[in-house]
Amino acid sequence: MRPVPHPRILNISPYIGGDITPPGFVRRIALASNENAFGISPSVKEIIRNSVDKTHLYPSGNATDLKQALADHHTIDPDWIMVGNGSEDTLHLLARTYVGSGDEIIFAEHAFGLYQIATHAVGATALIAKREDFALNAQSILNCITSKTKLIYLDHPGNPVGTYLSKDQLFTLIQMTPSHILIVIDSAYAEYIEDRSDYTSGIDFVADYPNVVMARTFSKAYALAGLRLGWIYANPTILDAVNRIRPPFNTSSLVQKAGIAALQDKAWVEKTTSHNAICHPWFEKEMTKLGLDMIPCYANFSMVNFGEKCADVYQYLGKSGVIVRPMGAYDLPTYLRISIGQTHEMEELVELLKRYYGQ
Ligand SMILES: Cc1ncc(COP(=O)(O)O)c(C=O)c1O
Repeated sequence: MRPVPHPRILNISPYIGGDITPPGFVRRIALASNENAFGISPSVKEIIRNSVDKTHLYPSGNATDLKQALADHHTIDPDWIMVGNGSEDTLHLLARTYVGSGDEIIFAEHAFGLYQIATHAVGATALIAKREDFALNAQSILNCITSKTKLIYLDHPGNPVGTYLSKDQLFTLIQMTPSHILIVIDSAYAEYIEDRSDYTSGIDFVADYPNVVMARTFSKAYALAGLRLGWIYANPTILDAVNRIRPPFNTSSLVQKAGIAALQDKAWVEKTTSHNAICHPWFEKEMTKLGLDMIPCYANFSMVNFGEKCADVYQYLGKSGVIVRPMGAYDLPTYLRISIGQTHEMEELVELLKRYYGQ
């Protein structure tokens, strides 16, 4: 006899991350996990070095200074913020707090893989909202709602399908969703598209709608993926319940300091997002010249359709030192998701692909 996991846990397919380097591949250019093209900011590095001396002490369980820094940065109330060990932590905590066995969680087709895991982990059923030509609309999500629905995860923009609901569509979704259903707007990539006039991260809806939560991460534009820091903005009545099960020290003291420093280094985020604003369309234009089509992605990655050559291109790139992400696990087996790296990295990738296609 040995301990047996709950059957619902064994039904979950393990998450396959972009950190895995298949045999024969060399990780020279990492374009598989939508990380920051420029790495960690020098000022954040400095703060981390200077903070190591205090790591024998427990961190602030309330992350008081970090929450204040986030509140100042976004002009919101610190009591409406909860932080976590990456946004995956906060997204899991929301399901564990508000959803139980037999309930339902809605998310879109080809949505971020964690939603599926978080749903099954709490014994709930996933209801999948259909997309049309990869675009999502509010009605498609609303059509899924039943009396058992407890939560909606909206990756906004999505990953790997990087489309988003327009402000109007998001407002329709919020207005039409019964107020006992939690709407979790996962705006992990918001920094890359905040200047689009029809986009909102959802931050403006939280104050007026107590069932709306906005989730954010420091893993992308803020370049702290390895340190793990995410946060949610929600009505304190929502957070009060989540905080009852949150591990009290789910962010380390180093991470809290690094988060504050990353918020202060506005120039690093600006460098990151303005690079993406130029390099992303350039890269996609180069892919079009090669005759390849793409799913529209409003973030720091592209979804390129390599058709029947997809597996071969993946191998070819990997063996040349460029690691991208195959999308079979997302039911998009002809696509590779390619993060936008630095200019020289993307130029090398384009040259490799031109060579592959004999151009
Ligand atoms: C849509 C989306 N949400 C959340 C996350 C997780 O972010 P974190 O690294 O903060 O856990 C990711 C990471 O890729 C993502 O793409």
